[in-house]
Amino acid sequence: MTHIASGPISPAQQAVEEELVTAVVASFSQTNDGRLRLLMQSLTRHLHAFIREVRLTEEEWHAAIEFLTAAGHITDDKRQEFVLLSDVLGVSMQTIAVNNPAYENATEATVFGPFFTENSPKIPLGGDIAHGAVGQPCWVEGYVTDTRGTRIAGARIEVWECDEDGFYDVQYPDGRCAGRAHLYTDSDGAYRFWGLTPVPYPIPSDGPVGKLLDSVGRSPVRASHLHFMVAADGMRTLVTHIFVAGDPQITVGDSVFGVKDSLIKEFEQQQPDTRPPDGRDLGGRPWARVRFDIVLAPVSP
Ligand code: BEZ
Ligand code: FE
Repeated sequence: MTHIASGPISPAQQAVEEELVTAVVASFSQTNDGRLRLLMQSLTRHLHAFIREVRLTEEEWHAAIEFLTAAGHITDDKRQEFVLLSDVLGVSMQTIAVNNPAYENATEATVFGPFFTENSPKIPLGGDIAHGAVGQPCWVEGYVTDTRGTRIAGARIEVWECDEDGFYDVQYPDGRCAGRAHLYTDSDGAYRFWGLTPVPYPIPSDGPVGKLLDSVGRSPVRASHLHFMVAADGMRTLVTHIFVAGDPQITVGDSVFGVKDSLIKEFEQQQPDTRPPDGRDLGGRPWARVRFDIVLAPVSP
C-alpha cells in the first residue's frame, strides 16, 4: 500500500510512530558495549526521524534497498561503492572534520579516496613517482615540521595521483603500479620528488552512485589534486591532498567536498628551457613546480 501523507498527522498516528521508535531504542538497551549501544540507539532515532520527516513511501523504501543492493554488487576488492556514497554525501568529510579538529597551524586533512594502495614503491629524494604514468612533469618539494616549526626527519610520505587521462593505475586492467610512491624526509625534514601536474577527473560514475549524481544534476568531477599521507613518530598521521590554484573545478565544486582553502597551492608553470632544480633533462617539455610545507599535529595534543 502506498502511503502519501496529506495534511497534518493525527495525535494517534504520531503516538504509533513514537511508540515504535521507543521500542527499537529500548531493544538495544541491554548492549554491554556502551559505545555500540549509543551508536545503535542514536542511529535508530535519526533514521526514524528521517522517515517520519519525509513521510517515506514504500516505493522509496524499495528504491533505497535496490540502490544499496546495486552498491553491494558492484563492490569488490578494487571498487568500493559504499565509500563513494559516503564521499558524495559529505559523510567522509564530516567524519574527517570530527576526528581532525584544527590544531594550531597543522595542515588540514581531507578525504582519503578509494585509490590508495599498500606497498607503493620506495623512491629516493628527488625520485619520480610516475613509473610510466603519462602527464606533465611536476617538481614537488617542501618540509615536514611540527607546529613549532621543528623539522621532522624520517617522516614517511605516501603520494598518489591519476595520470593526465584522469585514471589511477588501479583503474587499468593490466595490474600496473604508476603515479604512486613513498619516500622519507631527509635529516633536515626536507622532501622533493617528481610527480605529474594534477588534472580534474570524475569519480567512478558507472554505478549506482554515478546514477544518483546524474539524477540530482551533480557533476562527478573532482578538482585536480595530488594525494599525500604523512606519518611520523608521535604525530597524528595526516591524510590530505593539495589542489591546483586556478583550477575552475574548485569554483564549480568538488564532487566529494574535499577542497579546503589552505590546501590550494600554486603550481607554477615553467618554460621548457627553464632548468629543473635537479638538472633533469625533460626533453624540452614544459613542466611545473609546487611547494607544499607539511605541518603535523601531535598524536594527543
Ligand atoms: C579520489 O580522490 O581519488 C577520490 C576521492 C573520493 C571519491 C573518489 C575518488
Ligand atoms: Fe584522487
